[in-house]
Amino acid sequence: MKPIKITSSTQSFKSIKADASVIFIINKKLKTPLSINEKIFKTMGYKGEGVLFDQASKTLYYGIKDLSADSLREAGCAVIKYFKNLPFSSLKTICYGAEEEMQALLLGLFLGNYSFEFYKTEKKVNPIKEVIFAKEGYDKSSKAPTPSMIKKAEILAQAICDVRDVINLAPQEATPAYLVNWAKNVAKNTKISCKILDKKALIKEKMGAFLAVNRASIHEPALIHLSYKPKNAKGRIILVGKGLTYDCGGLSLKPSDFMTTMKADKSGGCAVIGILQAVANLALPIEVHGIVGATENMIGGNAYKPDDILISREGKSIEVRNTDAEGRLVLADCLSYAQDLAPDILIDFATLTGACVVGLGEYTSGIMGYNENLKMRFEDSSLRSGELCARLPFNRHLEKLLESKVADICNISSSRYGGAITAGLFLGAFIREEYKDKWLHIDIAGPAYVEKEWDVNPYGASGAGIRACVEFISELCGE
Ligand code: BES
Ligand code: ZN
Ligand code: ZN
Repeated sequence: MKPIKITSSTQSFKSIKADASVIFIINKKLKTPLSINEKIFKTMGYKGEGVLFDQASKTLYYGIKDLSADSLREAGCAVIKYFKNLPFSSLKTICYGAEEEMQALLLGLFLGNYSFEFYKTEKKVNPIKEVIFAKEGYDKSSKAPTPSMIKKAEILAQAICDVRDVINLAPQEATPAYLVNWAKNVAKNTKISCKILDKKALIKEKMGAFLAVNRASIHEPALIHLSYKPKNAKGRIILVGKGLTYDCGGLSLKPSDFMTTMKADKSGGCAVIGILQAVANLALPIEVHGIVGATENMIGGNAYKPDDILISREGKSIEVRNTDAEGRLVLADCLSYAQDLAPDILIDFATLTGACVVGLGEYTSGIMGYNENLKMRFEDSSLRSGELCARLPFNRHLEKLLESKVADICNISSSRYGGAITAGLFLGAFIREEYKDKWLHIDIAGPAYVEKEWDVNPYGASGAGIRACVEFISELCGE
């Protein structure tokens, strides 16, 4: 992320010097609190919807529905993107909304500056370097952004953009070893420690399910364990992420059209690393661990097969009937490792099922677990952060569909229906009784990777899960 400098000025809008101005038109109300020449609206036939750029005053009028956090976040992002092809480097605007709304607007401004151009020989950088908020507010509730609000937005945006960069990397580059290196770097730059379990260590840990998924890959697997332990921590949260650096389906090979974008099957794992980075940089007073199961799911003579029976770290035997249901195998062993660390709350993030996308659409994550109250609290934080999500209910009938005739459990359901929930129930079978109420599973398969940009999400990786989880953890800390 190329950082923009955002500042709050004590000067009036008129007296601030900037290359261009941005004014939001709220709900088609063409009256603004500024003494600007509003005749332009009539001349240009602008009714308050969409954008109007007035060349003479170098002012962008941008119509938004309301002053909600969601609208302001999206508008902030769109405005910065609008200036990408224009020759201006500084913008001025006024304050809109109260603290929560302004916080969202700030995040949108930072996120609007993101683009992934790593593989482009010609890079097109956004020329906007500075955004200045004048002292005027849209109405009485408007709050000028404080340095701490700006810092908070910047930390969150930085984590989101770093995560997007890694997920967007081509799979031949972003291997498990790459993720290990990245995690070590994140740890080095923050108060986080990093422990890596290599293949030998995974064998010693008896992670038979995780190891089976890795078998046909030329890249060694890795379990990344990041820990952030501040003094006076108010409890311990453990986050687990699916880090499939590529999922071709294994011997249950994916059809080509479904295989493309599977570089993004590491999105949950990458989000977990980004969440740790953000939590540490925000100095939140809570212990947070991040555990990422990193491997490829490939094909070859050495591949694990449908009919194989694996022994997981928890000791449970698993009948493999589909090698494309690999994420749950990796997660089962990672969740087992995580429970040994005695979490107060345990949350996993994974691009786990196509069924979740079919059920909820591509904009929404699925929240699963046994504790209704915990699910509701996460949902609340997620929605407040601007990430869509919905609770998917477990039930005993779906649970029965995972029964195996030859092993303790089967890695796929015997029915084609309810696939997101049966995947969640499979993970649930590896959660010990004493942690059942402390665990949440978040299926981010829908929003993790974007093929047509929406909201603050550009083409490619979105960084799904980060905003929701950082908000959830902040609220736990009472911040
Ligand atoms: N990584 C996929 C799930 C996925 C699908 C993520 C689409 C993002 C977009 C996962 O490993 C998978 O292949 N799941 C199977 C499970 C099935 C075999 C029970 C699926 O969803 O088809
Ligand atoms: Zn798969
Ligand atoms: Zn997968």
